[in-house]
Amino acid sequence: MLKNHDDSCGLSFTASNIQSVESFQRLTTAYMGLLPETGDLLKELCRSDPDMPMALCTKGYFAKLIGSASHSARAKGISDQLNRHIAAIGANPREQQHAAALAAWCEGRLEETARLWESILLEYPRDGMAVRLAHFMHFYIGDGRQMRDSIARVLPRWPERHVDYGFMLGMYAFGLEESGEVAQAEKYGRSAVMRNPRDAWSVHAVAHVLEMTERHQEGIEWISGREKDWSTVNNFRFHLYWHQCLYHLERGELDSVLRLYDEQIVSDIESEFYLDMCNATSLLWRLEMFGVDVGARWHRLAAVAKNHVDDADLVFVSLHYYMALICAGDREGAERMVGTIREWSRLETTQARICGEVGLALAQGLKYARNGEHAKAVVKMEPVRYALDQIGGSKAQRDVFHMILLDMVQSSQDALKARALFAERLGHKPHSSWAWKHYGNILDALGEDDGAKDAAMRASEVMAPA
Ligand SMILES: [Fe+2]
Repeated sequence: MLKNHDDSCGLSFTASNIQSVESFQRLTTAYMGLLPETGDLLKELCRSDPDMPMALCTKGYFAKLIGSASHSARAKGISDQLNRHIAAIGANPREQQHAAALAAWCEGRLEETARLWESILLEYPRDGMAVRLAHFMHFYIGDGRQMRDSIARVLPRWPERHVDYGFMLGMYAFGLEESGEVAQAEKYGRSAVMRNPRDAWSVHAVAHVLEMTERHQEGIEWISGREKDWSTVNNFRFHLYWHQCLYHLERGELDSVLRLYDEQIVSDIESEFYLDMCNATSLLWRLEMFGVDVGARWHRLAAVAKNHVDDADLVFVSLHYYMALICAGDREGAERMVGTIREWSRLETTQARICGEVGLALAQGLKYARNGEHAKAVVKMEPVRYALDQIGGSKAQRDVFHMILLDMVQSSQDALKARALFAERLGHKPHSSWAWKHYGNILDALGEDDGAKDAAMRASEVMAPA
């Protein structure tokens, strides 16, 4: 029989017994810790207490987190079932707000979804599921300051002895980093990792700080030195290898990048976890911009992307599927995908608006870029470059689009604009070998011999010793 049971934080759950509530706490901890057994814990809870509203709601949440068209349809069915279930058996106000958040998410009203979780957190700041999901949503709405402030608002309510306290520090670190407060981010991130070396999200927050502050060698040591701890997590671990690759790229250690790509980043690509595809496609395009022939690698990615041409969940993710299709030369798949994005941009959802404002132009620009129509790519991509945050993802992830734009400006023979944009990039990435190398080439083409020599020297200083 369903009753109210309180967890150790004082959160009330409608459940058959206290064991279900304890299982839900373990599930929340596993979700925050990116543990591979998270899905199994949820399945077990749904099996042992099928009438527990938060078990069903989390089933819907996790289906939405996968983000494919089929899983989104499944989540909608679960949301409808949950609403009928709550109407029949009742649920407490917090659980009802969770059900409303799932419904809003299924309808694509992402700001409303985040607002509902934030509303839960006013009264229940230790609702870990709401904290973590709000963090995810702010990330994919491209709002770093909300990621930071959402955690800042609840952090004083979490006792340090709480098993999930370290995860709060790590999320705060990432929000700070995405808001440009790198020193504070590093402090919180490192303290989270000290508490729990297996907390991959916190290791990742510090990796972002090292990326933003261009401490490439330190970044390689930070990630590879802790591999035995963080590599126990789910496929998110491949994203940490991706970060390691970004440092190697700037150091010119291209063989290391290709090795990590083949041995790690695409090692489970057929499991269709969207982040694996984002890692792989953006890394291959970067490798090409660093002058590497990536061989037939695009084809394996396109085979996965083909299954997602109808997805309409996250613009950021769809753009990466699209990159795989155009780079592998899959015209039919690419055309279908642009059709999806175009239709999507006419809907009345958060991501549809972002499609219309940024996503569609970016997709068109990428296609021109791939076709060698450099000037046309610039015409599409340049007007949206200051709106790119909207597509979500991290600054480091979105950077591939900024790099592609610069690559196109340079290839379109617009030397003055190329000189300006590479100078701009060097203003915030003064240790980028890629930017110095191309800046030098541009100066050379303009006959600025001294500047070109200086830039070439700066590029070689950043590279690893041969
Ligand atoms: Fe990242």
